Amino acid sequence: MTAATIISGKQISEEIRKGIALEVEQLSKQNVRPGLAVVLVGDDPASHVYVRNKEKACQDLGYYSEVHRLSAESSQEEVLALVDKLNAQDSIHGILVQLPLPKHIHEKAVIDAISVKKDVDGFHPVNVGNLVIGDDSLLPCTPAGVIEMIKRTGIEIAGKHAVVIGRSNIVGKPVSLLLQRENATVTMCHSRTANMVEIARQADILVVAIGRANMIDASYVKPGAVVIDVGMNRLENGKLAGDVDFESVKQVSGPITPVPGGVGPMTITMLMQNTLLAAKRLNGLA
Ligand code: GUN
Repeated sequence: MTAATIISGKQISEEIRKGIALEVEQLSKQNVRPGLAVVLVGDDPASHVYVRNKEKACQDLGYYSEVHRLSAESSQEEVLALVDKLNAQDSIHGILVQLPLPKHIHEKAVIDAISVKKDVDGFHPVNVGNLVIGDDSLLPCTPAGVIEMIKRTGIEIAGKHAVVIGRSNIVGKPVSLLLQRENATVTMCHSRTANMVEIARQADILVVAIGRANMIDASYVKPGAVVIDVGMNRLENGKLAGDVDFESVKQVSGPITPVPGGVGPMTITMLMQNTLLAAKRLNGLA
């Protein structure tokens, strides 16, 4: 058997970022510079790494960026006041509040406060509703990245059976909707699904977002199926592992994404793309 194709999110991201850089140059001639504000509350180490990566992506592409690092003791009122200020600030086109928030802060209240037009995470209920209906919206970054990397690998989605494992608001639900929008037949599995192995084995495209390191082994995968691993689990030895047991699954699968270097880089690239789109829309250019 020939070895499975590895879908490099890193490489696809670089291609997309080249296109974004050209657009940023064009926009600068109209005195528009995309601006992203990231709000980070508290000391979660993983969140600090993610936020630094977002800041670096902004620098690399010539975006204006602000990172607001607030102490874990900040009140909900302080966070909401900052969001209000950023909503009104013309140099900012995208606002991202890094999750999770400390327990005393009501996540929904904060997300609901973000201007729909600046909601580059696509988490605001209006953007989620537009996604469900199929209207224009800012799409959540990881699900948009999953679709983009499948398409750019030259894989046809229409007519395929896609199985999504995981039903979170951030990944499982929106990625299912986007696959359906691309004319796949979609089955969603979750922690209470009976016969998950049997269902997963029917997938032409298997998207895994459950948050359990290496849970999906080759027994879940039909020979030749496309496998997209959204998992990002930190192991005790400090290494990053996906939800898919890559070494075992790649023996039977078709094209497959690695962790790291798969979906992760795509998420930040889609955030950059959303911020560019928001900047154009807010300036009447899209
Ligand atoms: N924490 C983990 N993933 C995400 C994400 O996509 N957006 C935000 N805001 N926080 C996250």
